[in-house]
Amino acid sequence: MLYLLFLLLVVACKDSFLKTEPDVRSSIISVLEKVTVFMENRYQDINLDAVLGFRVLQGYLKGALEKWPLEHELLAQRARVEGMIKKMSSLLEKATHSLVQNDPEYFKEFAPILGPHFWIIPHSWNRTDPLMAYSSFGSTSCFTEETSDACFTYLLGTWKENGKSCIVTNACRNTMTKPACSNYCLSHQLLYFIFADVKGCSDRLFLRAPDYKNIFCASMMKINLEIENNGFNLSSRDLFMENIMLCGMSGFSDFYKLRWLEKILTWQMPKEGCFGEPSEQISASCITVQLYCLISWTHLYCSLPNARGF
Ligand SMILES: *[C@@H]1O[C@H](CO)[C@@H](O)[C@H](O)[C@H]1NC(C)=O
Ligand SMILES: *[C@@H]1O[C@H](CO)[C@@H](O)[C@H](O)[C@H]1NC(C)=O
Repeated sequence: MLYLLFLLLVVACKDSFLKTEPDVRSSIISVLEKVTVFMENRYQDINLDAVLGFRVLQGYLKGALEKWPLEHELLAQRARVEGMIKKMSSLLEKATHSLVQNDPEYFKEFAPILGPHFWIIPHSWNRTDPLMAYSSFGSTSCFTEETSDACFTYLLGTWKENGKSCIVTNACRNTMTKPACSNYCLSHQLLYFIFADVKGCSDRLFLRAPDYKNIFCASMMKINLEIENNGFNLSSRDLFMENIMLCGMSGFSDFYKLRWLEKILTWQMPKEGCFGEPSEQISASCITVQLYCLISWTHLYCSLPNARGF
């Protein structure tokens, strides 16, 4: 399946600057090395989202190494990835320590998702079906962040000390399946089902998880294509990349478009190593979600066999 996917990408992107798979892998590794340098300089300032990004990245890099092709010429790249993982482990420890210091309450609520074994790599792939997407979207503020945070803590069991996990209240059920939500509400709905998967929650709501994921990601694909048609304006990039990360993580391979990866690679600030607006002050958010989608590509490309193989 991965071979096929890659062949399709290559065929579909004849004009791209990333002509071969080793080029892609090498570009991603270079970009991630710069991101690691950024983290080295700023680990005290980065927020929970960014720490989360690094945690997922570390997990995915480890996963990529497990499938790393044995070709001799890839040993040097392998060593670079191993170096990054090692550096990241100690930085993650330090960054997590600062998080606890800065906002212990918020940290506690999300501590489980910052653990080393929370994030999983998809084991099967599918594509979105455009017919499943909402034909039109309602308001972009379908529900508040407080509402979705509360629903997440009921699933994670962090709503109180030693709380039970996998609790689905009626309010959460309604919120998390509310139709026609868009933008960040939509990604939070998907995240809810991702958390339930990882926690192994068995509420009957989750029997329909594959259906909901199909609907959410088809709609998120529709939004991403709109963002592309609008020229990737600055205010939409964050959402664009978050959608790629979350749906990629849910196994929808059509989010890994080579032309999107190339675009995103151009958004890295060459000196600072983070992703953001050139005019903007370098802030913690500079590398948060922007990093996420690269993570998805990392595990896809870094674990592909060498092109010579087919
Ligand atoms: C793949 O996606 C289609 C809709 O796009 C869905 O009908 C089908 O059940 C999905 N397959 C799996 C294995 O999830
Ligand atoms: C930016 O793109 C988004 C998403 O496509 C669109 O809704 C919005 O109107 C655009 N904003 C500007 C300022 O062009």
